[in-house]
Amino acid sequence: MSQSKTYWSSIAKDYDAVVKETGDQSQQLIINPIVQELLEDLKGKNVLDAGCGNGYWTRRMAQTAQRVVGIDFTEELVGRAKSRGVPSNTEFILGNLERLLLANETFDVVLMNMVLLDIEELSSVVHEIARVTKLGGKVVISTTHPCFENPPNTYSLKDDQGNKIGRAVSNYFTTGLIKDDLNQYQHWHYKISDLINCFAINHLFVEKVVEPNGAGTLKNGGVDHFPYFLIMRFKKSE
Ligand SMILES: C[S@@+](CC[C@H](N)C(=O)[O-])C[C@H]1O[C@@H](n2cnc3c(N)ncnc32)[C@H](O)[C@@H]1O
Repeated sequence: MSQSKTYWSSIAKDYDAVVKETGDQSQQLIINPIVQELLEDLKGKNVLDAGCGNGYWTRRMAQTAQRVVGIDFTEELVGRAKSRGVPSNTEFILGNLERLLLANETFDVVLMNMVLLDIEELSSVVHEIARVTKLGGKVVISTTHPCFENPPNTYSLKDDQGNKIGRAVSNYFTTGLIKDDLNQYQHWHYKISDLINCFAINHLFVEKVVEPNGAGTLKNGGVDHFPYFLIMRFKKSE
């Protein structure tokens, strides 16, 4: 089993308990409104929720899209997605994004909401996402901002009163699995250039980039000196 799959199997129940039908606090207050805007009008669209987790975005998109497919490789999460409710225009599939059992050019829109940070084989996954996206179709991604993501490669700088005033970054150029043993958290680090170049060689070109300022959003006030997240829309072109 891949390291990402093992990790996700171990935290699936806890993730579902936090995310529920809305997403966690950051998703509700920062990410969701931007993703919603970048998805544009889904009326009549065939949509893929790639790495759907418990399927909360799948069900959201099913309210307007013609058809939505949610795929994830974590059995527990796909089970929870199904038990939370499957709209009539929706299908949940247990599957690996590295090898999609779906026809070429099937989808008008693909969403990867907070998924790239958990992808072990970036080039296979982006190749597959591009393959199943129609020419002219859109791919929307959100991820932790590669420059300022979670510890241990980055950490907050604080003033004498303990206020967060900056972000220290180390090892930006070292890509791959990053483990935070203290908090039992892991993610895959890719440079921004790795992401954009990988999408580009698969004919997915940047259309819009958002680096939201989280100040004043979260319960702890958020911070105004770096963006927590990177949210982008790509368009598949010749
Ligand atoms: C942070 S969660 C995000 C889930 C969902 N998109 C959301 O917004 O709540 C990342 C998800 O990616 C899935 N994932 C990671 N690598 C995958 C792969 N190669 N194939 C399918 N799913 C994968 C994990 O199982 C997990 O559900």
